[in-house]
Amino acid sequence: MKDAKDQAVRTIKDEHRTISAVLHGLRYLAQQSLDAKVQPDFAVFRAMIYYIDEFPEKLHHPKEEKILFARLLQRMPEAAALIGELHEEHLAGARLIRELERELAYFEENRPAGAASFKAAVDAYADFHWNHMRKEEGKVLPLAGERLLPEDWEAISTAFAANKDPIAGVPEKEFETLFSRIASIAPDPIGFGSRWKKAPT
Ligand SMILES: [Fe+2]
Ligand SMILES: [Fe+2]
Repeated sequence: MKDAKDQAVRTIKDEHRTISAVLHGLRYLAQQSLDAKVQPDFAVFRAMIYYIDEFPEKLHHPKEEKILFARLLQRMPEAAALIGELHEEHLAGARLIRELERELAYFEENRPAGAASFKAAVDAYADFHWNHMRKEEGKVLPLAGERLLPEDWEAISTAFAANKDPIAGVPEKEFETLFSRIASIAPDPIGFGSRWKKAPT
């Protein structure tokens, strides 16, 4: 039973680490793009933004909202305010992604002028999302650890496993493939692709 709890907590934390890795890469490359001589590969930015949009939406938030938060709320109605806040942040995150997409499109059309506002949107999103994940790991997971019963963790762990399969809409495997693709096309040192070219001065 402790296994079910450990496994469920690990799943949430592992997914946070994956999102963080992409955010870190995105932030690094947006910073690099401030150099007007750098010629960014926009396919890399698009793949990263697609990932940080779809992975939480399709796979991660459902685990939190429908499974973990729902159980916690049953055992601890007084956690409603915190859970409501996190729900609002999930919605706000999706809106910030649209902003990021707009800034990316602007940057692609207006190079290098759009680099600064794109970088600012990336930083805003990354800070927002890191705060959100910190809140989940620092507040929700410890509360769940204290208040949920062994049978809750069994149910959560089973539901998390079911969330992997295609019934959930997008299978986890698809995101693993996308993550590998990002790693293969992102330039060194973020991924295994070659460094972005610099226009001659
Ligand atoms: Fe969340
Ligand atoms: Fe999360």
